[in-house]
Amino acid sequence: MAHKFQVEFRGVSFIRPRHVFLLLLIASIVFNSLLLAGCSAQSSNVLKNIYLLRIGYNDGVVYSSSDASIVNSDISLALASLVGDSSMQIRIGYFGICMTESTSSSSSWTCSSNATYLAELLTSDEDSLNLMHLASSFRHAIVFPYLLIVATALAFIVFVAILPYPPFLRGLAVAATFLSALFVLVSVLWQHTASIAGSSAAVSLANGTVYAGIGKIAIIFGWLSFGCLVVTVIGVYYFVAASRFVSEVDV
Ligand SMILES: *[C@@H]1O[C@H](CO)[C@@H](O)[C@H](O)[C@H]1NC(C)=O
Repeated sequence: MAHKFQVEFRGVSFIRPRHVFLLLLIASIVFNSLLLAGCSAQSSNVLKNIYLLRIGYNDGVVYSSSDASIVNSDISLALASLVGDSSMQIRIGYFGICMTESTSSSSSWTCSSNATYLAELLTSDEDSLNLMHLASSFRHAIVFPYLLIVATALAFIVFVAILPYPPFLRGLAVAATFLSALFVLVSVLWQHTASIAGSSAAVSLANGTVYAGIGKIAIIFGWLSFGCLVVTVIGVYYFVAASRFVSEVDV
């Protein structure tokens, strides 16, 4: 079966399976890099949309919950009078935080990796519940970018090693791509869980005076990167196995 696929593949053009794996590895490296770069650069319209968690004030509106487990139902109004009509929004990425003082389309975004710098730009009316501090703690205590960095480095090493494709490196390429995929999987699950937990806790504690949400683009990039790596692992493994049966497999 391996041989048949090989022949058909050659029949179409001189594109070889390894070119597909190289493309998938590049895609995975690009997705990881964009994910890590999210919110870290000033004046980048693309990067400010790649965030793990966003949190902001409701512009004076209170979405109070009427759950039976609520003991003090007056707290929403008490907090609302503190918050006023701020509509500041913060977006948290792996290495940076972006903020805007209002979410109207004309407002501008400021991004920095330094939360202290951003906090100094805000007044206590704009951030009365200290969401910037919350964002800073979330990024330092919960967000963990290093697995994703290692995964990207591994994918890059496989990319460089797979390019000349010496047969003795195929086993190594399978192992490294597998590790990379595993690290991306752990990172994406971690990111997903942490963002949902952070957003739900923030909204509940603020009793409906703030909103929060997870970054869909970041989650999609994470899963796409994982998907590319899984297909590469399976593909390269398939050709390692195939080369045991077919003596001269030219992939
Ligand atoms: C962060 O910004 C603050 C205020 O602008 C500054 O004092 C501090 O040195 C900065 N920290 C880093 C690590 O750059």
